[in-house]
Amino acid sequence: MYDFKIAAADKATLYRDLASALEGLVAGEPDPVANMANAVALIWETLPDLNWAGFYRNLGGELVVGPFQGRPACIRIKLGEGVCGAAAATLAVQRIDDVHAFPGHIACDAASNSELVVPIVRDGQLLAVLDLDSPKPARFTEEDEAGCVRLAEILARAI
Ligand code: SME
Repeated sequence: MYDFKIAAADKATLYRDLASALEGLVAGEPDPVANMANAVALIWETLPDLNWAGFYRNLGGELVVGPFQGRPACIRIKLGEGVCGAAAATLAVQRIDDVHAFPGHIACDAASNSELVVPIVRDGQLLAVLDLDSPKPARFTEEDEAGCVRLAEILARAI
């Protein structure tokens, strides 16, 4: 049984513990789907105020939904479309305080108000993006971004 109950007083500690739990969870497992599924379950259990968390995989230049938690989501997203597509096209993190003000935002769940999308890149190639949505406006801070970039680095070796 895996029992990763992470409770930390501050975000730096929270993300440090989350990264180390993720390292342990994916260690020795080569299957990308298994690792994405466990990773998103861990993130969902650990980070507060999310209404969707999951992966879009880069399959032949199109983003296709992967393991996630939350409501059923749009399946395919073209590079450059929406927040996920912008992250995929530019390989740059998208940290959006108000998704309704983002041109082309794709509303999969009307409850979403802010979003953080982190590209997962290995050897210069986009593997997937990690997408976190929140009903809280401006939910994601610079510390969340840094913490999730660290998670993406671990996942780049595990998916
Ligand atoms: N809002 C995203 C689409 C994916 S869902 O949030 C799950 C976007 O604009 O790319």
